[in-house]
Amino acid sequence: MKVLVLDGVAEEGLVPFREEPGLEIDIKKKLTEDELVEIIPQYHAMIVRSATKVTPRVLDHANNMIVVGRAGVGVDNIDLAAATNKGVLVVNAPDGNTIAAAELTMAMILGLSRSVPQANATLRSGKWDKKAFMGVELRGRTLGVLGMGRIGSNVAKRALAMEMNIVAYDPYINEEAAAKMGVKVLPLEDVLKQADFLTIHMPKTKESYHLINEKTIAVMKDGVRIINCARGGIIDEEALYNAIKSGKVAGAALDVFEKEPNTESPLYEFNNVIMTPHLGASTEEAQLNVAVDVAKEIVAALKGEVVKNT
Ligand code: NAD
Ligand code: MLT
Repeated sequence: MKVLVLDGVAEEGLVPFREEPGLEIDIKKKLTEDELVEIIPQYHAMIVRSATKVTPRVLDHANNMIVVGRAGVGVDNIDLAAATNKGVLVVNAPDGNTIAAAELTMAMILGLSRSVPQANATLRSGKWDKKAFMGVELRGRTLGVLGMGRIGSNVAKRALAMEMNIVAYDPYINEEAAAKMGVKVLPLEDVLKQADFLTIHMPKTKESYHLINEKTIAVMKDGVRIINCARGGIIDEEALYNAIKSGKVAGAALDVFEKEPNTESPLYEFNNVIMTPHLGASTEEAQLNVAVDVAKEIVAALKGEVVKNT
């Protein structure tokens, strides 16, 4: 059987394939949809990160495909309805990049509170400008966490160690478990009202699309700082632009955007916005973890065994 590996998935993590007799792996750089459509019929499995879009057209040509694996959490680049219609299983690797994404979120919170990237850029441009970068301390401030799953709860744990107060909104979690951690679960509006820093860790769904919009921003504290290391599209970027322009929002840190790659946006106008190119899972450890995890799932699927993360 043949496995197609795309999007720079960590090769050293593909050991489960190499240990399996009768499996052939093809590692390819980014392909256009046309190129993918042309070669896809020969493959029984495929691994992607987020760059490749597994569209209905691609799946329509995937006549021998048994399983598509996502080396990461979000499967929003794979058309799940088209995969189901074609009888193709979709598996992901939801645990391997949790710490990487939680740590990037902490870097964003700290970067926003002390303007680290901006001060670095100013100094490199030849200006010793201490006055421009008065920061705020995290201790005693309130962090609002939207989505208390794997990443949200790891961010909460780390923020508690920095003596922040944590409030969270997540309609699907066990409030007792959160309370044991020291996190108060509240309705969305209360979290929005109380947060000095607001961090987003939910999937992009119909309910969460543009959840951060003109109306919800209006409910927030003046001077709130917003972090999104989850998915573009949860924030309405135009509403965020207006709120930063007016001074309502004191800063934002974005790792994800409604359209990616994103190298042009009105948000580039602001010095108090920190932007990174979807780096949440970009650590050596996370990339190795997700490659191993998804490869194991694919081997299980190809052998007709039980898979965990469908
Ligand atoms: P998870 O499934 O463990 O947690 C998501 C949580 O969000 C769950 O507890 C769920 O109950 C909650 N939730 C769902 N809908 C909600 C809603 N409408 N309102 C509030 N809460 C809601 O997922 P995770 O592993 O913690 O990942 C969180 C997000 O981060 C996902 O969107 C994932 O794709 C993204 N992610 C991004 C990067 C990156 O590179 N920036 C890396 C890893 C994960
Ligand atoms: C994910 O959903 O796992 C992330 O977007 C990380 C990635 O693979 O880029």
